[in-house]
Amino acid sequence: IYGEERRNSRGHNLAVLSELNPFMEGLRKWSSHEWQATPIVNGERCKSDARTTVTCPHDQSRKAGIMSWSRPDLVEKALKTAHESFEGWNQTPAEQRARCLEAYADRMEANEHELIALCSREAGKSLLDGIAEVREAVDFCRYYAMQARRQFAEPMEMPGPTGESNEYYLEGRGVFLCISPWNFPLAIFTGQIMAALAAGNTVLAKPAEQASLIAYRATELMLEAGFPPGVIQLIPGEGAGIGKQVLSDPRLAGVTFTGSTTVAHIISQTLAARKGPIIPLIAETGGQNAMIVDSSALPEQVVKDVIMSAFGSAGQRCSALRVLYVQDDVADAIEETLAGAMRDLRLGDPEKLETDVGPVIDRDSYRVLMGHVEELRASHRIVGEAPLADSCERGFFVPPVAYEITSIESLDQEYFGPILHVVRYDAQDLDKVIDEINGAGYGLTLGIHSRSESTAAYIERRVKVGNTYINRNQVGAVVGVQPFGGRGLSGTGPKAGGPNYLPRFATERVRSNNT
Ligand code: NAD
Ligand code: ALA
Repeated sequence: IYGEERRNSRGHNLAVLSELNPFMEGLRKWSSHEWQATPIVNGERCKSDARTTVTCPHDQSRKAGIMSWSRPDLVEKALKTAHESFEGWNQTPAEQRARCLEAYADRMEANEHELIALCSREAGKSLLDGIAEVREAVDFCRYYAMQARRQFAEPMEMPGPTGESNEYYLEGRGVFLCISPWNFPLAIFTGQIMAALAAGNTVLAKPAEQASLIAYRATELMLEAGFPPGVIQLIPGEGAGIGKQVLSDPRLAGVTFTGSTTVAHIISQTLAARKGPIIPLIAETGGQNAMIVDSSALPEQVVKDVIMSAFGSAGQRCSALRVLYVQDDVADAIEETLAGAMRDLRLGDPEKLETDVGPVIDRDSYRVLMGHVEELRASHRIVGEAPLADSCERGFFVPPVAYEITSIESLDQEYFGPILHVVRYDAQDLDKVIDEINGAGYGLTLGIHSRSESTAAYIERRVKVGNTYINRNQVGAVVGVQPFGGRGLSGTGPKAGGPNYLPRFATERVRSNNT
């Protein structure tokens, strides 16, 4: 139980046959389904001539569905509708808004097999990642519903002189543009929209191009759950074009963005150049995440956590481990165990339960990652790699690989895939390691493996990140348990799934009444 009024969702224990069999049976119904996605404006599905066939990242010969792109006139209609619907939704009692969030969570749970199948077929997510994806989306809804009741239902009485009442309260800002990435195609898409709606805003939802089918199905479930059609507009399409059209529009009241640091900078610059009201940007971006392992750490535990943090979800998590700093004294032993564990990783079809690592999202990503591996191969010592199976021929598979490098400073960008960089350090150089990590400018996650509490506390205090994980893996933040978000190049700081998230979408007001 996390708080009195709410539980996080339970998920499935697939180690138990009585849960595994109905789960796999539920998935089978969707094994050859093909989905459609269109813009949804004021509840209306709007087909357009600009369509794309969506194929599976793990098998380019398989079709997941067809998506229709948003035309500029539809984007304009969506903006107008969201703008006109704002006052009504903002005046809707927080309790009623919260119930819509909870009803949507129920709809997702009732349709989880379809959503998990979609996550695999469109975004290449493994089944376990798909289960986690639905759970996180559901948890966001119930957590933000709880927070909406706590923070938006009643004004807070402030002190004042006799005869004067002072009340502090929060309300929505207006139309929020929610721009989401493909790597959490349901959870982040849902989390952004639900936070904005819970706070009383209306929403233009711009999902990643690579995850439009999932976004469409999720939006349908939101509407089924009772959200008024005017409050959520789905505008799938190309980011730069839609960004250009919407970001400068004076009707826009806020932006929440999760994606790369590069695009966050573009959005920030566009917002800075716009005329009219100054509006907030909530940006949750990339990471160059490190783990520091000292000689007191337990090698088997380290390797287990490294495998999960660096290669789980094919390394396509913003929280994923990119640079493993290992103290010299234990580096040989840890590298050897790591190499052995990597040889056992199974790449393959994300719809199969035995698969450990699925594909990367698309051809562009594959090329960037393989280009980086080629450069590493030319001049760096390999630590370990996973085998590529024959069944991987038709998809975008990057086998997990680890290379030694000299410092995090040699990395020119976030390589968003299953590539681990290992740096050996001398115990006397711990401060240098910390400075290097801070110097990279990101600040999302940090892993520490040490049985010395004082060392762990020292590192934790000095490395400037949003989320630190000590003696465990560094991925998979849980809603309401590990509020998640970074600083510096990793974002503007708000913690999704945390107690202060909804107010970032709101405007603060005070009413002083001398009666
Ligand atoms: P991306 O930046 O390429 O795209 C994200 C979204 O921005 C997409 O919807 C895209 O269409 C849109 N977009 C692109 N150009 C735009 C523009 N000029 N104006 C407006 N919108 C635009 O990122 P991605 O490849 O979808 O996702 C992977 C990235 O997301 C990684 O860098 C990862 O670290 C980051 N990420 C961060 C978090 C976090 O919580 N910090 C979580 C997940 C992913
Ligand atoms: N919230 C996601 C994680 O912690 C990104 O892995």
